Amino acid sequence: MANQTFSPPDAPVPDGIVPAEVVARTEKRWIVVMTTMLLVMMAVIVVTGIMGATHPSSNVEVVDPTTLHLGGEFVESNLGTAAEPDGSVTVRLIAQQYEFIPHCVTVPAGMPVKFRLTSADVVHGFMLPDTNVNTMVVPGFVAEVRTRFANEGEYTMPCHEFCGLGHHAMWAHVRVVQRERFANSTAIKRVNCE
Ligand code: CUA
Repeated sequence: MANQTFSPPDAPVPDGIVPAEVVARTEKRWIVVMTTMLLVMMAVIVVTGIMGATHPSSNVEVVDPTTLHLGGEFVESNLGTAAEPDGSVTVRLIAQQYEFIPHCVTVPAGMPVKFRLTSADVVHGFMLPDTNVNTMVVPGFVAEVRTRFANEGEYTMPCHEFCGLGHHAMWAHVRVVQRERFANSTAIKRVNCE
């Protein structure tokens, strides 16, 4: 012991007492860790805030709400359910006071389903209860939501953004049918549930 050179902070201390230098070093590390966490959390808040502000719906795609019926993706003949080459399904809908067009769409169970919606007039909402589908439908933007229906059934989709006097009556339906039935029927591949 005698030949060791101790600086005062390194001097042996009674059991249970941590040398001041160790305390300082540990505290410094914790300050670095906590500052890093704080910066990461602040970055998450700022980034999600900016993303939320610039992405009014699930993605940013603009579309002219005044010419939807004249051409492009949301022309009437292109609405409803469309089977994609990869086996997935895309459903295109227009929301307008006070209806969804089409009123009812048929989709297969157990396959990826992509909903693409836009509004022809004011802000509407689109929600399928008990699924992850819940978005605003904002005029001028395309809202896109992806989901997968586990079971057959009938879903009602209410508009959940107040859009005027007829808001409470703005409903549409999604009919989920067996995959085979969907594949076998060309009649139900697009608009309607008939
Ligand atoms: Cu459309 Cu409320």
